[in-house]
Parts: sequence; structure tokens; C-alpha cells
Amino acid sequence: MCGIIGYSGERSACSVCLTALANLEYRGYDSAGVALWEGDTVQVIKAQGRLSCLRERLGQGHGASRCGIGHTRWATHGSPTDINSHPHRQGRVTLVHNGIIENYLELRAELETLGYRFVSETDSEIAAALIDSCYVRSGSPLEAIGAAMERLEGSYAFAILFDGEPGVVYGVRKGSPLIAAVDDTGCFLASDLPAVLGYTREHYLLGEGEVVRGEGTQVCFWDRELRPLSKKRITAEWSMEEAQKGGYDYFMLKEIHEQPRALRDTVLPRLRDGLPDFTADGLPEGFFRNIRKLNIAACGTALYCGMVGKALIERLARIPVEVDMASELRYRNPILGENEAAVIISQSGETADSLAALRLFKERGIPVIAIVNVVGSSIAREADYCLYTYAGPEIAVASTKAYSVQVAMMYLLAILAAGDKGVEEAARRSETADLLRVISLTPRVLEMYDQIGRYAATLRDAHSLFYIGRGLDYSLAMEGALKLKEISYIHCEAYAAGELKHGTISLITEGTPVIALATQADLLPKTLSNIREVKARGARVLLVTMEGLPVDDTACDEKIVLPAVDGRFAPLLLVIALQIIALNAAIVRGCDVDKPRNLAKSVTVE
Ligand code: F6R
Repeated sequence: MCGIIGYSGERSACSVCLTALANLEYRGYDSAGVALWEGDTVQVIKAQGRLSCLRERLGQGHGASRCGIGHTRWATHGSPTDINSHPHRQGRVTLVHNGIIENYLELRAELETLGYRFVSETDSEIAAALIDSCYVRSGSPLEAIGAAMERLEGSYAFAILFDGEPGVVYGVRKGSPLIAAVDDTGCFLASDLPAVLGYTREHYLLGEGEVVRGEGTQVCFWDRELRPLSKKRITAEWSMEEAQKGGYDYFMLKEIHEQPRALRDTVLPRLRDGLPDFTADGLPEGFFRNIRKLNIAACGTALYCGMVGKALIERLARIPVEVDMASELRYRNPILGENEAAVIISQSGETADSLAALRLFKERGIPVIAIVNVVGSSIAREADYCLYTYAGPEIAVASTKAYSVQVAMMYLLAILAAGDKGVEEAARRSETADLLRVISLTPRVLEMYDQIGRYAATLRDAHSLFYIGRGLDYSLAMEGALKLKEISYIHCEAYAAGELKHGTISLITEGTPVIALATQADLLPKTLSNIREVKARGARVLLVTMEGLPVDDTACDEKIVLPAVDGRFAPLLLVIALQIIALNAAIVRGCDVDKPRNLAKSVTVE
């Protein structure tokens, strides 16, 4: 949700901002803008639309500035116009903002009585005026930030330029991510690492309420009480190559192909003597022994991973699992008891609702395990135990490899928990070996890319589509449907195959595309009869099944047959096929695959 950048140093600030914003565009792409110190003044240049519109507006000029801030926007308050674009300037303060100021209307009324006038509809412009009003009083940028923090409610990461301190960039965060990075030319503030990986891997993570001041290679930090802070510098493990397309046409395509590697990187370090072991991650041995119930909370794709996790953990470890949309959980006053634990799943580690769910669990004394991809993110830091997935940077807005590694974590946790609950070692070993085997089969699904892509091409003019399945196939149907809607804009619904006849089947007419998932041997006869029901009403059925399962070709119009594995492990193969369908449907429909409309990668607002 919006990407921010700040730079002070020897390089051209304009070029640093544009490079960083290009790498942050996945966080939002409604508009972009920069503010640059030029001589004694700050120049603000911004444009509605993609970064290319800003580049055009900037032309060849502005190369001399050595300090500036930049922003790429996912609109929350106010439509995506030039005026609502960031940076915003009020008095002697210019800033870029990621987050939402919840009490902005109240602040606006108060600031208007002080003579401030606002041109945009944004909450961010109010924040600029608030900081300016504090700056007028104290004359100190640091104190102004501290005083403004007392008044601001909601979430924010700001990069700020103060008239009176040319060449200096300030930053502060609460609830939205911000890092500071340094190279031998100067310093950077950024929403996340991919923004600066082209310059440096050396960075600092800012905690809640922390403030940073950067001037050239000098960076100083303060805590929320404005006491000086010494912070540990971290070297990022992610490289620039990982954050680039590397010869693929789309990030999503690259990330789909990275899945075998990501799965190995995530699973292999967690195996000891053929069994899952999380002691190196800090999870105490026997963690699940006394756990009576697990609560999983997440959003979107991560939520659908949670549903797969529920099936796996309940089946193998016999621990009841409740799965919640984080956005609903936080307002439903869940019933939580003793000997329960929570699992929060999040690629970005910054999703506002998932973070709020984590905080709710902690307030209620429930220990929280986080499964997170972005190192040092808020969820990773606030959880009691963080189990990192090693997918590497995921840039495409639609999640692919991050989902697969989250699902792999669910298998590992299910096997681990089963051990704590007394399931025999031989059974756990065999599950672990099966997990490794299915990972080794993932490249075979990638080899089916063209065949799957040909089916997807038939969806070019589709208006509406149904995904159906039972059991684990139903959880995967939801993920497949989300991916398709998200990037191809085809209306799509996922249905438990047995539920269709309770209403939805009335939507099936001649030629309606239905993708039926049938990888669960024990449910196959039931699923096949549900498929026949839709086929009898004219549906055009693609059946996605597995080698060795007895399906008769008259049940479908087309078939994709995945390598044979036990149905428990089918999700890791199935999801790749579904991702390829969504990607190719989006390509033939001319959609912007990596940056679908209205979306952003990291959802740091409610
Ligand atoms: C869909 C997608 C989203 C995210 C969701 C949660 O492809 O990417 O549904 O899964 O916004 O994001 P994280 O995992 O960062 O918490």
C-alpha cells in the first residue's frame, strides 16, 4: 500500500527515487511523485498514473539534486489525481506517506483554525500540516515529529523534508514498514528492501515509533521517546537479481518457476534425521504437546493456505484447528481458552488485519507462531516464534511461490505436531519422505506449462467461471479462483462440489466454463458425479486430476493429468497448474499480469 523512498548523498536523488519507485511500484501504482532539494528550495513534481507518467513529466531535468523523497501510491483517501498524489507540502514540511491517518478529519478541522488550507482530499496532507504546525512551535524537526506522533492515530511511515535542513531526510514509522539503508555514497529510507537492493544490502529495520535522520552517509536513530538509539546494521540475504525479472516476461511467470527452489530452500533446513525440526527457528521442542486447539488467521491467499493447514493438522495431529479471515477475527471477540496457540500466515508480514489478529491473540495470552516471508517485517517481529519461508522476494502482486512455501510449512508443522501428540515415528518419517517426493515432482508440472496455457487461452472471452472440488481440492479451488479473478478479471467462484446443487447450479448454462479439481481418491466418485451434474447442464469442463485415478473421459471436455502423488500432497502440484491457468488467461486477455488493477502487494491498511 504505497511505496516510499528517501535519499541523501552523492548520487542524483531524482534518479535514485525513480529507480527505487520502479522497484516499489508493486505496492501501488495509481500515481507517483518526488520532492527534490534544488538550490534552497524543495521542488515537488508528481503525476497521476504509472511511474512512466512521472518520468515523462520530469523529462531530462532535476538530475543535480542530491536529496529527495518519492512515492508510488495506492489510493486510500481521494481519487488517484495529480493533486492527491504525494509528496504533499504544507508550510515548511514536505512528506510522503504510507498508511492511513484515522483522525485526519478532526486534525483537519483543528489545523484550519490555525490557518492551514488544504488542496487535496488526502489524510497525508493533514499530517504534513500537523508536523509543520509542530515545527513552527519547536523549530526542531525531531521535536516536531515527536509532537506530531502524539496526535496522529492510525498507521504511517513518512519520509520528510524540512525547509531549514537542506540535504537532510527524516523518517518515522508506526504500523507501516520503513527501513534505512546505507552505501558509500549516502543513505536511503524505503518501504522495503527491493527498493534499494540495486545500491546496497546494508540496512537497518525501524521499530514502532522510531525516528531516523539521514544526511549523506550519516544516519541517526531515536526511539519513540526521542532518546538516541543505536541500531544493528543488517546485511540482506536477498540479492538484486532475485528482485528482477531475470529474462522472464513477467515477475509472476518467474516466481511460478522458482517454486521448486523455494520449496527446497524452505523445507530442507527444517529437516533433521528425516523429520521436521524447528529448534533452529526457536520453536521449543514439544510445543504442540499440550495444545488443545490451534487458531490460524490470515488474509487472501495466505488464508487459503491456512485452510489446507487445517486439513493437514487435523488429519495427522488430531488437533482441532479454527481458520479465520484476519479481518473478521479481530472484530468477532473469538472464544479462546487455555492451551491454545495461534498461527499467523503472511508473505509480506505487514498485512494490517493479520497484524491486528496477532496482537489480539497476544493480548489474550495465546502464543503466536508467524509464518512470514519478509525478514524483519512487523508480524515477524511481534510474533512469539517466527518461522521464515525462504521464497525470496515476491514482486508480482499475485502470490504464487509464497503460497507454496506456506503450504510446505503446514505439512512440516502437521508432522511436527503429530510427533508431539504421539503419532508413531515411522508414519511421520513416511509423511516427510512423501513431502520431499512431491517437491521433486513440481518441475514436472512446470513442464506442462504449454498444455495448461492452451486451455487458459480458451478463457479469453469468458465472463464467468466456476472452480469446484471437495476436501483439499475445495481449498485449492478457492486459491485458483482468487488468482484467476485477481489478474484476469474473469468473474469466478469456487464451490465445494457437493454444495453446488443447493443453489449455484442454476448459474450453469450452455458453455459455462467449469474447472473441476479431482485429486482426492477417496472423494473421487462423489466429485465425478458432481461434475456430471454440471456437464449435464451444458458446462464446458476442464478436469484437473492425477495419474492413476480412475476418471472416465466422458466426465469432461478437457483434462490435465498431474503426476501421481498421495492426495494429501496434491496441493503442491495442483496449485502450480492453477497459477499457470490464471497467468495465461490474464495474458490472452491483455491484462497487466504483475500489476492488476485496484490492487497492491502489501495491504497495510484495514
Ligand atoms: C493474492 C494475494 C493476496 C495476499 C493477501 C495477504 O494473490 O497475494 O490475497 O495473499 O493480501 O498478504 P500477506 O500474505 O502479505 O499477508
